Amino acid sequence: MAENVNAGASGELTLPLLLQSDNKDNNEVQRMDELYEILARHAHLYYDLDSPEISDFEYDALVRELLELELKHPELIHANSPTKRVGGAASSKFKKITHKMPMLSLDNVFSLSELENFYARLNLNINKDIFTCEMKIDGAAVSLIYQDGKFIRGATRGDGKIGEDITENLKAVKSLPKVIKAQGLVEVRGEVLMKWPSFNNLNKAREAKGESLFANPRNAASGTLRQLDANIVAERGLDIFLYYLVDAEAHGVKSQSDALSWLAENNLPVQPVWQKCIGLEQVNNFILNWQDKRAELDYVTDGAVVKLDDLTLWPAIGATSHAPRWAVAYKYPPEAARSKILSIDISVGRTGVLTPVANLEPVRLSGTQVSRAGLHNFEEIKRKDIRVGDVVKVRKAAEIIPEIIEVEKNLRTGSEEVFKEPETCPACGERVVKIKGEAALRCVNRAACPAQLKESIVYFASHLNIMGLGDKLAEQLAASGKIKFLSDLYNLNLSDWSSFDKMGVKSANKILAELEKSKTQPAANLIAALGIRYVGKAAAEILCSNFNDLNELKNAGLEKLSSLDGIGDVTAEAIRAFFNDKLNLELLNRLKALNFNFNFKLNNNLKDNKLANKIFVFTGELANFKRDEAAQLVKNLGGRVTNSISSKTDYLVAGDKGGSKLSKAEKLSVKIIDEQEFLRLINA
Ligand code: IVH
Repeated sequence: MAENVNAGASGELTLPLLLQSDNKDNNEVQRMDELYEILARHAHLYYDLDSPEISDFEYDALVRELLELELKHPELIHANSPTKRVGGAASSKFKKITHKMPMLSLDNVFSLSELENFYARLNLNINKDIFTCEMKIDGAAVSLIYQDGKFIRGATRGDGKIGEDITENLKAVKSLPKVIKAQGLVEVRGEVLMKWPSFNNLNKAREAKGESLFANPRNAASGTLRQLDANIVAERGLDIFLYYLVDAEAHGVKSQSDALSWLAENNLPVQPVWQKCIGLEQVNNFILNWQDKRAELDYVTDGAVVKLDDLTLWPAIGATSHAPRWAVAYKYPPEAARSKILSIDISVGRTGVLTPVANLEPVRLSGTQVSRAGLHNFEEIKRKDIRVGDVVKVRKAAEIIPEIIEVEKNLRTGSEEVFKEPETCPACGERVVKIKGEAALRCVNRAACPAQLKESIVYFASHLNIMGLGDKLAEQLAASGKIKFLSDLYNLNLSDWSSFDKMGVKSANKILAELEKSKTQPAANLIAALGIRYVGKAAAEILCSNFNDLNELKNAGLEKLSSLDGIGDVTAEAIRAFFNDKLNLELLNRLKALNFNFNFKLNNNLKDNKLANKIFVFTGELANFKRDEAAQLVKNLGGRVTNSISSKTDYLVAGDKGGSKLSKAEKLSVKIIDEQEFLRLINA
């Protein structure tokens, strides 16, 4: 995990240092290596965890930087380079589906002159230069299959060739028709999205429950689609827009504009903003016209897609390994607005890095009200000469925290105040230092700074899936003086927990149960929870599958670590540094004494256990199974079955004539599912 990144619910979020590509001393080859490592991490955060730490715009900029270096050093191109790949791999939670025809991505252009190159490459005759322009929807790509008018299957894009079977979840998307007019086999593709109202409601509810927030509607949509429980999908209110009719000619459709009409005639929802444009000028006008107007839509679009209308020409024009040549995405620059800096706060992150954050006069941007902007570090304040009282241009790339692009210096009145770099930590009053080679200021009080402790608790809890231990509780814990090591969380008793604000006995019991459960999390989660720099879940998985246990990992040298596929030199050094630190070793000893799972082999076996650590109770009669058959199924998938309901129970499966367990489950807010849902859960 990069040093000054924190994707916690509090929204303190800045760019990892390595993202700043002005590292001129690095030679190009080293930079390529770095970019592969950085991009792999961010692709994993985006595609697998639905929890990005950087905006698409920043990700695209890094991909472009890599692409330029790859052109100069083609011999160093990685086989699975992100410049060649479509999306992420299919996850193991769902059945895999091979797409009949690959689901491709789109090439991006960022200016009208780049669009002109796309146009010129098509080399069209005058009367053939007709395009369908549509908005680019920022959601999760899906493929739907209808057989004789009935929706029979739906899948995610996955890596473009193999996706995940998410049929049941798609059935829970209200606007997706389960029946259409068209007969025979029909495959349509489009985007599942979450509109702003559903997104805002979802995050509000999550905040109230102390759960981490979704960074943007796209992550919320794709995270929701991968839920194992279709009821959650239904609750969250997803939408769908279709834009692609596979094998259109077989349905008598010869153009993209007719394909959109065909979809609409079959009640398949089509995104309302599209236009048939004749010639490049009309295309340009469509793009420019919607650049600002898109902010009025109730869903996120990050660009416009320009498609050659005559689809009978598509096969001859062809595609690259990841995108068709007959279409292109025009990516809009992140939306910008003017505001004023009212004050500058300093937050202290998990590793002690001090991050300045500007409080702004509230302004509307990308569909949300913005009142704070990240300032990255103090160097940046100096470089941009940002002063309190300045009028500034702010931008937000449809996600994460907005940033200040520039100061409108011509609007200065003379009353603006130069910001003074702090000499002490605002959270604990200890000294701050600037570390050589880093732009950041850091609080030296690693052992006792309450801000660092609070962030470490939140980070630890979120990686070990400890529900209910969010920002607010972590802040109180850090201030209480009861936690010195993270392992101390496990030494608090019921009265300790219930002494915190808004914590009744019931919530305290729940936390105790959650903590107990967290000890059986796969070892990769535990390794990720430790907060080793650059070691998120993906790197932790790699470490756990290459070493047998913690001791082996602890003793591994730099050379061994950096020889592992997916672990670069930078990460290897960070791992060594972590294990060379006495406080970290003490923490590991304490966690071991608490019976945490540091056996990595066990972790590897658990990987495909989709019900790992889930506790089931059965009541009533099941139609499809005898009780012990159902119990065996749960066990085979890594779950446990107990006889009585407690706050630790994850699911009560209620068959016919369920008894008193039902009311007990209701009282303890245990999830109650029927046999059909149980079947879906085990078959997902
Ligand atoms: S057409 C064969 N049209 O953006 C290419 N894609 O960044 C089919 N997307 O993979 C894609 N809105 O998931 C198309 N109006 C639109 C779109 C759209 C969003 C997605 C799609 C694509 C991705 C590329």
